[in-house]
Amino acid sequence: MEKRLMASLALLVSVCLASSAAAAPEAAAKIAHGKYMVQIMACNDCHTPWKMGPNGPEPDMTRMLSGHPQQMVMPDAPAAKGPWMWAGAATNTAFAGPWGVSFAANLTPDKETGLGDWTEETFIQALRSGRHQGQGRPIMPPMPWMSYRSASDEDLSAIYAYLQSIPAIVNQVPQAIEPREAQ
Ligand code: HEC
Repeated sequence: MEKRLMASLALLVSVCLASSAAAAPEAAAKIAHGKYMVQIMACNDCHTPWKMGPNGPEPDMTRMLSGHPQQMVMPDAPAAKGPWMWAGAATNTAFAGPWGVSFAANLTPDKETGLGDWTEETFIQALRSGRHQGQGRPIMPPMPWMSYRSASDEDLSAIYAYLQSIPAIVNQVPQAIEPREAQ
């Protein structure tokens, strides 16, 4: 009797071990898919600050996806008029135009300054609705949420999983600035 109990316990343990071992590669595959999507959807173009490299400007991957650097305080933006309608910072993380000034968000999993406290639902809702955290103010240009909203749930869920897996960077991105009064 005791032997049978031991045998079934052993079986139970091995089943549990096998299923958690199966879950790990699945999670890794999802993160790898998310990484691929982030690369081809160019999130680093705006969310990783650019620096001057040997072959010209390039994203500074030591600050990967951490958004507009908090210590880089921008002077007043040029007025949005004429054929040159918008301007961008050297880091490609701050953008001025008829919408005011927008700063690329910190997408790393830091809880205070990044997406650490965001649920997957909030993330998907933000990209689909074009609203801050899926329900607040409109998300400003040039964040291309209108293109990303058509991504599948599977793709957006993988992007979220990848973003939660990257190194957290503490970087408080400034609030967006409203357009100046017409001059
Ligand atoms: C062309 C530049 C650009 C690209 C490319 C870009 N973003 Fe953004 N993103 C921005 C800017 C600028 C903001 C800040 C907008 C604002 O404050 O209204 C932003 C904001 C966000 C936010 C915060 C939304 C909120 O609720 O406040 C998230 C999340 C985000 N981007 C995710 C992504 C992801 C994921 C990708 C790639 C799939 C990406 N972005 C690609 C420029 C970009």
